[in-house]
Amino acid sequence: MSPRYAHVTGWGMAVPEKIITNQDLAKMVDTTDEWIVDRTGIRQRHVADEHQTTASLAVEAALRALIVASLRPSDLDLIIVSTSSPEHIFPATACLVQDRIGATKAGAFDLSAACTGFVYALTLASQAIKSGAIQNALVIGAETLSRLTDWKDRNTCILFGDGAGAFILQASEEPGGVLTSVMRSDGSGGDLLSLPAGGSRHPTTLQTVYDGLHYIQMNGREVFRFATRVMSQATREAVDAAQLTLADVQLIVPHQANQRIIEAAMRGLDIPMDRVMMNLERYGNTSTASIPIATCEAINQGRLKPGDNVVFVAFGAGLTWGSNLVKWSGPFPVRRKVSPRRFRWLARLRSWLARLRRHLEGLIWGRDRSI
Ligand code: UT7
Repeated sequence: MSPRYAHVTGWGMAVPEKIITNQDLAKMVDTTDEWIVDRTGIRQRHVADEHQTTASLAVEAALRALIVASLRPSDLDLIIVSTSSPEHIFPATACLVQDRIGATKAGAFDLSAACTGFVYALTLASQAIKSGAIQNALVIGAETLSRLTDWKDRNTCILFGDGAGAFILQASEEPGGVLTSVMRSDGSGGDLLSLPAGGSRHPTTLQTVYDGLHYIQMNGREVFRFATRVMSQATREAVDAAQLTLADVQLIVPHQANQRIIEAAMRGLDIPMDRVMMNLERYGNTSTASIPIATCEAINQGRLKPGDNVVFVAFGAGLTWGSNLVKWSGPFPVRRKVSPRRFRWLARLRSWLARLRRHLEGLIWGRDRSI
């Protein structure tokens, strides 16, 4: 088999309309706009309204990515949703997305690697394409961390925002796409950033809720120290593995956690900030969604073009960290009109018919058993 490459041919993002500014937060907890901007670089964050969920934002981002790639949902072989705020423990949010967009031939699963999740998901999807196992993949990073945030805890509520971003990956024999990937972890630091309750270790009880264990807990200072170290290390490793130098990289898209973390990491690499995509000022830390959202904005601003080498680099709970070096492609030159409204309508109809069929089969099976 001739070598196969996994190209990024579509991208899309979705953020809720509702915005919470630092001034709004200063009315809720003991903080100031000046403190938040100075320590994080964040000025505002988008927050889901009561009708929006991780899956609904993921679906919006996915449909936009499909349009850019001129692909139908039924062309997809695999859907990975990276998230730390899934709709449920199970079923996977990826399966809800599969149903709502009508990706009738796709396998679907969630990936839990916190803020590093999108980098991990891109790695797995690209490897599945390169191996010849699949042709087209949809990779989504989506979060509604506002639902898991204690809005009375000034250590965490100032940081996070909601949103989703999606990439389409497609196979080709043309060199390019996701060239190298780095995936690392250190579970000994798991307690530095966690959501302790609601799983099998601490099932939800009145006591866990009373103790606030269903909210994000974080040792900010320790996470900060870890992050500055691994962000530069992972960037260098992905570039070295591709046998390139940092001078060959046109753009770095780092996980948008904290401006000081990113600046310290880039200083360590001698990379000027004009080669680094930043947008956390307007979105806060959207965890695993931050890299695809920042990428969409970089493309819209003309900062990422076909042929460019771009590094995605992230760190997060776990602890996890990782990076990808991608030769940016853009859509394949197959133009056909794809209509998101039609996809959604057809998917809803198909889902309804599948439920009806299951219901009728259940009735028939029940009657047969009683015979
Ligand atoms: O995707 C990964 C997610 N996590 C992260 O990226 C977290 C990484 N860490 C950070 O971004 C920073 O550690 C924070 C922004 C969370 C905190 O900044 P810091 O410069 O590390 O502050 P600190 O934790 O060392 O706290 C300094 C002071 C403390 O007061 P004392 O003990 O010195 O009197 C805090 O109580 O600032 C206080 N403080 C605040 N003051 C005003 C903590 N949060 C706030 C706040 N407003 N929101």
